[in-house]
Amino acid sequence: MAESEIKRFFKKRLKIGNVVIEPPLFLAPIADISDSVFRRIVKGFGGVGAVFSEMISSDALTRGCKKTSLMLNFDSNEKPIFFQISGKNPYRMAMAARMLEDSGADAIDINFGCPSKNVTKSGGGAALLRDLKSATEVIRSVRRVLSIPLTIKIRAGWDENSLVYRKVGKIAEDEGVDAIFFHGRTRKQMYSGSVNYRWIGELKSKLTIPVIGNGDVVDRYSLAKMLETGCDGVMIARAAIKKPWVFYSLMSGKDVEVLSLLSVIEKQFKMLMDCYPENLAKHKMKLFMSWYSRSLPDGKSIRVQLSSAKTAFEVYGIFEEYRNRVNQAF
Ligand SMILES: Cc1cc2nc3c(=O)[nH]c(=O)nc-3n(C[C@H](O)[C@H](O)[C@H](O)COP(=O)(O)O)c2cc1C
Repeated sequence: MAESEIKRFFKKRLKIGNVVIEPPLFLAPIADISDSVFRRIVKGFGGVGAVFSEMISSDALTRGCKKTSLMLNFDSNEKPIFFQISGKNPYRMAMAARMLEDSGADAIDINFGCPSKNVTKSGGGAALLRDLKSATEVIRSVRRVLSIPLTIKIRAGWDENSLVYRKVGKIAEDEGVDAIFFHGRTRKQMYSGSVNYRWIGELKSKLTIPVIGNGDVVDRYSLAKMLETGCDGVMIARAAIKKPWVFYSLMSGKDVEVLSLLSVIEKQFKMLMDCYPENLAKHKMKLFMSWYSRSLPDGKSIRVQLSSAKTAFEVYGIFEEYRNRVNQAF
């Protein structure tokens, strides 16, 4: 794909229902990671058109779980924001969707792709790809209560022998879904192998609603490959966890230096300690430090120390010690 076409993509406006996304690049839903703090960090770099929340269990939300209600927090700078819900019970899914619309979501997304046993054992996530009757009921009941756009995020099927993306695409279009986010792998693949661009291109060619391609986009080369499918937009997860400036990098062609990353981590950790109870802040700081360490020189030394940290302050101490070492080296 010519460089000029990639440049044109960054100037494109995508409309999903009445929501305008410019450029059509999405921060993916990432359990435990894409909370308000992380979304603000990613937005701060620029280049991202819309962000997704973490996956929110419709059961937990509608039963009043305190930890889940923290996931509803967002800042107006994060908009447009898509909230993703998971579950199988049409009544609870509709109720959760309404609660999120009432708290300011720009769109609701239903998770049809989560491969984790925790989610699939009760029939939600990718398990809905094996039960299209329930999938249809869930979409229909959520669509009925929403006035904002509704999207779904799918995988291709449970495994290679049960590819259902064409059927699910048709159901979605018939039931008034506004766009489909398509991670081009099966549930069985989890994250192995590589994304299948042919499936994404085929779904795009069959539907009139937007199809957003997802999987393995990390740089301009992989972005170009995804755009060659003809998809209307692109969603990124893992590359954003390791490098929250990936959208900015894709657009500008520039990278961010280690010292800038360290100041981002400092800012993020302070925000986490402000926003969450100590235990949850510690958990998230450990998680992020572990992901970020993969983009840092001698990052392994951080991961070794993290395992023994018992409080958020201890995690912060490990980070500070690392930063001092790096500062001396520069
Ligand atoms: C740690 C982790 C958590 C994830 N959580 C969710 C989730 O809550 N909801 C969802 O639809 N997908 C989730 N995904 C899948 C991503 O959104 C995305 O579809 C997948 O990682 C492929 O995109 P990538 O190659 O850009 O990472 C998660 C992926 C990872 C690695």
